[in-house]
Amino acid sequence: MPGSNGNSPSHLYEIRSSAIQGRGVFARRRIHAGQLIIEYAGERISNAEADRRYDDEKMRRHHTFLFTLDKKTVVDGNSGGNDARLINHSCDPNCEAVIEDGKIWIYAKRNIQPAVELAYDYQYERTNDPEDAKFYVCRCGSPKCRGSIMKPARKRRKKTRKLHMPQRR
Ligand SMILES: C[S@@+](CC[C@H](N)C(=O)[O-])C[C@H]1O[C@@H](n2cnc3c(N)ncnc32)[C@H](O)[C@@H]1O
Ligand SMILES: [Zn+2]
Repeated sequence: MPGSNGNSPSHLYEIRSSAIQGRGVFARRRIHAGQLIIEYAGERISNAEADRRYDDEKMRRHHTFLFTLDKKTVVDGNSGGNDARLINHSCDPNCEAVIEDGKIWIYAKRNIQPAVELAYDYQYERTNDPEDAKFYVCRCGSPKCRGSIMKPARKRRKKTRKLHMPQRR
């Protein structure tokens, strides 16, 4: 289904079955670090509407096409979206999602060789319930995999002695 939307530069990639999960997006040719690959397009909806569309309680594992744009807005790639919605998550990603002027763009983070799967770090917000972890298990297969498609848990700051602390301005 490459090129299903006008802003999908399908000469750069193709859609195939992925070892990570379901379908994925793979480089068709060499992509350079910093190169723009595609916009993450989709319908802009509220958090409440996103919750209505994707009921976590009814899913065995988390599977949505949502991208959080800001505190109020979520982009649903499954409605009016393009091939970007099929880009999987990796804990050691070769792509990154950048928000510019209210739009989401997927850029190459490093040089990507043909046939390599494109992935970015979803950085999903962590939930407060530890039981949810099984819902967000990561299968990216990277040696650096943190085991979850959620953001890394916040590290507790080490206690530091107040004396001799450098002053920050
Ligand atoms: C936007 S879809 C990506 C396309 C998906 N592979 C498909 O065929 O529909 C996002 C969903 O894919 C799955 N997914 C993506 N990356 C994953 C990963 N590294 N490990 C496990 N599941 C992943 C999760 O279920 C996630 O909610
Ligand atoms: Zn991972």
